[in-house]
Amino acid sequence: MTEKPSLWISRKLPSAVIHRAEQSFHVLQFGDDVPRSAERIIEMSAKADGFLACNSEKFTAEVAARLDPRLKIIANYSVGYDHCDVPALTAQGLTVTNTPEVLSEATAETAMLLLLGAARRAVEGDKMVRTGQWDSWSPSFMVGKQVSGARLSIVGMGRIGQVMARMARGFGMEVHYYNRNRLSPEKEQGAIYHNSVEALLPFADFLSLHCPATAETTNLMNDDRFALMPNGSVLVNTARGAVVDEGALMAALDSGKLAAAGLDVFQVEPGGNSELSAYDNVFMLPHIGSATFETRDAMGFRALDNLEAFFRGEEPGDKVT
Ligand code: DGY
Repeated sequence: MTEKPSLWISRKLPSAVIHRAEQSFHVLQFGDDVPRSAERIIEMSAKADGFLACNSEKFTAEVAARLDPRLKIIANYSVGYDHCDVPALTAQGLTVTNTPEVLSEATAETAMLLLLGAARRAVEGDKMVRTGQWDSWSPSFMVGKQVSGARLSIVGMGRIGQVMARMARGFGMEVHYYNRNRLSPEKEQGAIYHNSVEALLPFADFLSLHCPATAETTNLMNDDRFALMPNGSVLVNTARGAVVDEGALMAALDSGKLAAAGLDVFQVEPGGNSELSAYDNVFMLPHIGSATFETRDAMGFRALDNLEAFFRGEEPGDKVT
């Protein structure tokens, strides 16, 4: 019987995922659950044939250059892989994979939660009731922005963007989008295509970002682009913090260009932005877009599908380049 490949699982994962991993791999894990340092990653590369890693592990070019040749594959437990220098890793002969599709519903749910919460002043309302400051009611009290019938603009109409569009249609929203490639009519489902972000933004009563963080999308939402949005609009970001210039976001909130924002991701994570925390019209979550029990299992199973395919000598379905 051939020996099972060794797999290092960098963080605590659901027990169903670990149980399945143990069928195919000799699993290596630590008892604690903390982000792993570059030194730890390098140490484990000499002990494992594969990694099942998270976005808390940073695979920079410097780390890639020091990895032991024993390590053959990094199967990420995430759809985003901006924590990996993929060209540097592939130059070392490593295969890198992600977990698309399985987290689209959960992430779009979070985007919808943020959209509704930002529009209807959830932070202010919750704080008022919770602190015993709710002492009156009037027709002008806590009036927010109506979602139903408004225009939702989506940047990045991949799988998550398409699920967001489907959910938004359930609220009677008119969906507009920008994507590098226009979708087929079956996938568009009536959504209105714009051939640039600039052309899209004037239609963004609500703007939801679903594009990856790349060199091209860094600070995509800057002063100039916020200026193109309708006055009193709402920004939702469940993509990556790098896509929004947080200084420009605060300026847009200060000027009233934006009525509110809903953010699950920040330029600095973990931690967020203490200046943004001063805004009651910013509804914030700590990067939990995909954090449902069902999705956490599915992400692990998808990563294992990739690992098992790789060690069978096949091309993993979710190889990234
Ligand atoms: C993802 O899958 O990219 C989520 O943001 C968690 O890292």
